[in-house]
Amino acid sequence: MQPDIAARVMIHEVAPRDGLQIEPRFVPTDEKVAWIDRLSGTGLAKIEITSFVSPKHVPALADGEEVVRRIRRQPGILYAALIPNARGAERAAATKLDEINVVISASETHNRANLRMDRAASFRALADIRTALADTGIALTSSIATAFGCPFEGRQDPAKVLDQVTRLLDEGCTAVTLADTTGMGNPRQVADLVAATLARHPGLPLTLHVHNTRGVGLANVLAGWQAGAVRFDAALGGLGGCPFAPGATGNVCTEDVVNMFEEMDVATAVDLDALIALSRDLPDMVGHDVPGQVRAAGRPLDLHLAPAFA
Ligand code: COA
Ligand code: ZN
Repeated sequence: MQPDIAARVMIHEVAPRDGLQIEPRFVPTDEKVAWIDRLSGTGLAKIEITSFVSPKHVPALADGEEVVRRIRRQPGILYAALIPNARGAERAAATKLDEINVVISASETHNRANLRMDRAASFRALADIRTALADTGIALTSSIATAFGCPFEGRQDPAKVLDQVTRLLDEGCTAVTLADTTGMGNPRQVADLVAATLARHPGLPLTLHVHNTRGVGLANVLAGWQAGAVRFDAALGGLGGCPFAPGATGNVCTEDVVNMFEEMDVATAVDLDALIALSRDLPDMVGHDVPGQVRAAGRPLDLHLAPAFA
């Protein structure tokens, strides 16, 4: 399939959730809110700003309610949070979010490691999650973790992932994300699964969520786009990772993804210079360097003074 180069891609920033959940340092709520407010000024389509998970298991995001309450919303941006169970949906229902993103793994083993329940229990929880959201106006979306590979089980059967997409839509989810939780996917596999998902569910708002654990992140984004995906999760600076998946490392880096698309003349609507400036401030916030590349190298046309030739 030949992608429509004129069509805009939607960039979803997940650093406030996927990025911070694995950080050892608790970023104070004031700093999180100020950071999300700056992110809101960059033209992103969606920001996943926190999760409503157990504060015992993920202390870095224990302040979810306060973060949602205090951010300054910008029109045109969707604000989302990840949830693991009905308790998370009840907490989210009391806030002013646009969407919640319920995570269920393709892999049974990762679901148990991450959520301490089997997949059947995760699917059963969807009824209570729908009840919790009724009349709130909050949309229910779902991420399929380990959709391309699981660090415990290996490759996942695409037929199982496709069936999970169908089941989630049948259960009332309005959008689905295919997540490569520990960067095990490759471009051919990503293209095949994206194409098969869109063939089965034409018009589905499908998001691709990849991690750059093995350096294949941007290639997977490109392959997903060529196969028809136009929504991409990414994390500023390349932060991120699932604390319950061995070897997890950062998401594909937002400013690297934006740079790639903009250089290809595919519009993102994101202010790349603003994003790079935010990314350059990240080490102060998280206390260590971050892996993004454009933040270090600058944009391709940030040219250098020519050397003086004798
Ligand atoms: N938010 C806040 N607290 C929650 C909660 C939620 N969504 N779900 C459960 N809890 C609380 C319970 O109320 C209970 O509290 P108590 O000890 O004060 O009574 C406690 O957590 C234990 O409840 P239980 O149902 O036994 O949970 P668990 O310890 O088996 O953990 C999850 C299950 C799903 C809550 C936990 O594994 C989790 O939060 N996982 C998310 C992991 C994650 O964020 N991964 C990265 C993103 S993919
Ligand atoms: Zn992730």
